[in-house]
Amino acid sequence: MDARRGDVLIAPLERAWPQFNTPLRLGVMASGHGSNFEALVQASQERLHAQIELLVVNNPGCGAQQRAERLAVPCLVHDHRRYSSREDLDRALVDSFRQAGVEAVVMAGWMRIVTPVLINAYQERLINIHPSLLPSFRGVNAVGQALAAGVRITGCTAHLVREDVDTGPVISQAAVPVLEGDDHETLSSRISVQEHRILPWAVALIGERWRSGG
Ligand code: GAR
Repeated sequence: MDARRGDVLIAPLERAWPQFNTPLRLGVMASGHGSNFEALVQASQERLHAQIELLVVNNPGCGAQQRAERLAVPCLVHDHRRYSSREDLDRALVDSFRQAGVEAVVMAGWMRIVTPVLINAYQERLINIHPSLLPSFRGVNAVGQALAAGVRITGCTAHLVREDVDTGPVISQAAVPVLEGDDHETLSSRISVQEHRILPWAVALIGERWRSGG
């Protein structure tokens, strides 16, 4: 995907959400709280023509797993501590997603570095959400990095995953102002609201391209 294409500039919801012959079959990966996972489930019940087939978490008992139970979404735990390498963990993820018939995968707060094993299995169909306006503030604690840098505007980015962390082509972004007196919690929670908007939209755009053979 060309990062200069109009998708980046078109605000979500300015054009109709794509509809497919059958709902997109999605897999989701999460490590923590799971609010983006829940936003995807909610969107898939409304405007996003998709079905969440499987959630995989790496931290047993995490918020995302609890949400999956409440929302009746199938959930598997692949605890990274039980795998001897990143590749082994990714092989297990790919196996699980393939068994579930998943077409595209969303890293919705997945706090592990992924390898070509996963990236190549879901080439151009592996999407990540990151709490900054990439390419600014890649890596861990992007919100803390933005606060420390004293920027006045930050935001969030949904992008395709490449081997270099947080470098893939941008699919959608939203800007969030840093307000006087913001701390990590207040800024994170406003970014989170925007993540829940742009992530389902990014999935719709990637699904549209995938289903049209692009
Ligand atoms: C989100 O802010 C997401 O952007 C971030 O983790 C949070 C997960 O929240 N991801 C990263 O920092 C990945 N580099 P959630 O568990 O409530 O969806």
